[in-house]
Amino acid sequence: MRPRHIPSILQFTKLIWQQVAASWNDTETAAVAVDGTVGNGHDTLFLAELVGEKGHVYGFDVQASGLANAQERLESASMAERVTLFHDGHEKVAERLPEETVVAGAMYNLGYLPGSDHAVITRAHTTIASLQALLPMLAANGVVTVHIYTGHEGGSAEGDEIQAWAATLSWKDFRVGRYDFPNKELNKEHLLVIEKL
Ligand SMILES: C[S@@+](CC[C@H](N)C(=O)[O-])C[C@H]1O[C@@H](n2cnc3c(N)ncnc32)[C@H](O)[C@@H]1O
Repeated sequence: MRPRHIPSILQFTKLIWQQVAASWNDTETAAVAVDGTVGNGHDTLFLAELVGEKGHVYGFDVQASGLANAQERLESASMAERVTLFHDGHEKVAERLPEETVVAGAMYNLGYLPGSDHAVITRAHTTIASLQALLPMLAANGVVTVHIYTGHEGGSAEGDEIQAWAATLSWKDFRVGRYDFPNKELNKEHLLVIEKL
């Protein structure tokens, strides 16, 4: 296949994160990242590599099977020490993270875990509750990426609610960007990028 010049949503997400992480090198403080939807841990490992030796990643998922795969993946990559996994909903983020944690960035990859129980999906009310709890913990210039999938039942409604919520964030305090392919006919996806000013 010929290479394309427009990045896929996944590639665009990684570009954003690499750009965000490049700014961490300028500070003395160790970066803390949150993976709101650990699943099998691919993104958790990506974040663990980005935060570096001194940084830390806190990850959430409601499915134990995915978390076990994630733990194995992190151990194989010798990254387990810089990650804390919570078998809990991401809506508990404020209760679970140590008090006064400043979060440099958070990633949410919504929907269901491929190869797992497709009935276990993220839902608008808990996703929005998590985002709402997280934003006050976010550092200045901290970024949240939210990958929305609409191809499964409930996905489109969840996406609409999250986008409507994000549109209410004050322009004075946040920038909300969206990346997507308007002419994709099936299984539309959207990437929301929220930056705190
Ligand atoms: C698309 S998958 C994530 C894929 C993952 N990032 C990876 O690298 O494998 C979405 C995940 O969200 C999880 N999930 C659903 N509701 C949740 C909640 N309230 N809190 C945290 N995770 C949740 C599902 O169990 C599923 O593993």
